[in-house]
Amino acid sequence: MAAIELDGIVRRFGDTTAVADVSLATERNEFLVLLGPSGCGKTTLLRMIAGLLPPSDGRILVDGRDVTPLPPRERDLAMVFQNYALYPHLSVERNLGFGLSVRRTGREEIRRRVDEVAELLDLGHLLRRRPKELSGGQRQRVALGRAMVRDPRAFLMDEPLSNLDTKLRASTRSQLISLHRKLDTTFVYVTHDQIDAMTMATKVAVLNHGRIEQFGAPVEIYDEPASAFVAGFMGAPPMNLLPAELSTDHDDRLVVRGPGVAVSLPHRGGTDPGARLVLLGVRPEHLVPVPADHTGPALRGRVDIVENLGNEEIAECQIGNQRVSIRGSRPIGLAPGDATTLAVRPEHVHLFARQSGRRLVWEPEQAPALVP
Ligand SMILES: Nc1ncnc2c1ncn2[C@@H]1O[C@H](COP(=O)(O)OP(=O)(O)OP(=O)(O)O)[C@@H](O)[C@H]1O
Ligand SMILES: [Mg+2]
Repeated sequence: MAAIELDGIVRRFGDTTAVADVSLATERNEFLVLLGPSGCGKTTLLRMIAGLLPPSDGRILVDGRDVTPLPPRERDLAMVFQNYALYPHLSVERNLGFGLSVRRTGREEIRRRVDEVAELLDLGHLLRRRPKELSGGQRQRVALGRAMVRDPRAFLMDEPLSNLDTKLRASTRSQLISLHRKLDTTFVYVTHDQIDAMTMATKVAVLNHGRIEQFGAPVEIYDEPASAFVAGFMGAPPMNLLPAELSTDHDDRLVVRGPGVAVSLPHRGGTDPGARLVLLGVRPEHLVPVPADHTGPALRGRVDIVENLGNEEIAECQIGNQRVSIRGSRPIGLAPGDATTLAVRPEHVHLFARQSGRRLVWEPEQAPALVP
């Protein structure tokens, strides 16, 4: 039985369709990340799951039960918002217990739950303080703890780390991962940050204009993006995407050609895919500078900028009239102004139909086909 199931969810605001036909199901105890750019419908979707906003169409099921008509308090879900408003005049202890005291839980029971959660989140020494006497990360943990005292069926979180600096973000991520393991509960986590998704998720739904572009484990999304949109969203820098034309040569190899692009791929299907307009996708870490007389698949162009990240370097090159990023250990061996040849291994080449953006598969035994 799925922990959370969305069945044909639609939400319109007047003429705007914020969420257009979203269906997915998560197993119990999944850490589901809803990932996508600003305005793609993440918050709208989460608010519908929480019961704060009715869908225009579709059903929401929690542990197999249709909760669509139910108000938030009957869904037994806990929501943590981006601006985790704590009660400023109450101590951490009373903030943590607030949800239980309004439900008229006994004093002993409240103390027991608050102590348990404080222990889990390492807040025990802060119980007497007021929110203004806490750091951003500590406030974040109190907001989380306030949701946790209730032992809900699932936690719904909307960009809960967005107010934290880089270092605190990283450590709070690790805390969330171990918390998820300990609590054995479903998490639904909204973010536009692909690093959040890669590090914490067991499943990611990538959203674009209110639709799911891809739903899968983080590695699947990174290694086999279903569309050019997903490829261009995941990774920092994201996958390079170059317009090119696809054909077969007399040896029945696939040939991808474009300005500065000459990539030939093993392909023994015997079916002529015909010339078609594609986007050639290569991740920055899969491009390697090689001598100019290199004969394998390669991109050719000029180096613009080399950025030093300490352990690695990122070079920006001009290939045809496209910008291409390369990422590698320092020194990467490129200098601004250099002519460069960048090799790529066939297994690291991704192809997308230029018009629809959908991934093309080109297994050696098959003609390229659209992934359904
Ligand atoms: N109450 C509303 N009335 C009208 N339009 C709305 C309303 N709420 C959201 N929208 C629109 O619906 C779309 C999705 O909004 P939503 O807040 O879900 O995006 P989001 O993915 O959470 O973005 P962000 O990353 O910026 O928080 C946007 O185009 C937004 O302008
Ligand atoms: Mg939002």
